[in-house]
Amino acid sequence: MEIIRVKNAEEGGKKAFEIIKNGMENGAKVLGLATGSTPITLYKEMTSSDMDFSNMTSVNLDEYVGLGGSDDQSYRHFMNVELFDKKPFKETFVPDGKAADLDQACQSYDQIIEEHPIDIQILGIGQNGHIGFNEPGAPFDGKTSVVDLTESTINANKRFFDKVEDVPTKAVSMGIGSILNGKKIVLMAYGESKAEAIKGMINGPVTTDMPASALQNHDDVIVIVDEAAASKL
Ligand code: F6R
Repeated sequence: MEIIRVKNAEEGGKKAFEIIKNGMENGAKVLGLATGSTPITLYKEMTSSDMDFSNMTSVNLDEYVGLGGSDDQSYRHFMNVELFDKKPFKETFVPDGKAADLDQACQSYDQIIEEHPIDIQILGIGQNGHIGFNEPGAPFDGKTSVVDLTESTINANKRFFDKVEDVPTKAVSMGIGSILNGKKIVLMAYGESKAEAIKGMINGPVTTDMPASALQNHDDVIVIVDEAAASKL
């Protein structure tokens, strides 16, 4: 893993943007994208740039079960507001959290991932080491599935909701196996709350107890961290 230390999330967003720009100049066509607070500075760089994304395809990591584009807290809504409304892409995929048949929706999403192999996968990391919503215990060869969110994840995400009871307890998430199929992976982490997970991901054993440690098995991973997130390395 290549580790890039930055002063803050703004500088991290600029670094990640350079990697995407470089990748696109070298033929990247499909971006794997994440939601949450971490990639916001990257999306700001993308939307304020003069780059054209209209030939690009995006495939997002996850969506809450029960939420769709018209719900303000859905990841589809987040992506539209933060990126796609300002920089149109050719095609954008986010799992369907409102599908009547979720198992079928998971299979369809795997088909989408297969048809659009990811050139650059953007990741954040959970305090418990999750990537996507693959919580501790998720298999490293996993595909898209419906997952139960852990208490730690529900608590971390309650800041986006009026009250903790409103946070969905399930999500549809791309599996670790599909994440590892991305040609290049860029994981960003900012703040002290991520320090333990960053330590486990980089220096700990490769174990499903620490989902992000699966990235040690990938040969092109760039980790962008601020001082606080890197403080336990
Ligand atoms: C979001 C996702 C999650 C987040 C992680 C960190 O699509 O897949 O793994 O990246 O929960 O969230 P933030 O960035 O809000 O700290």
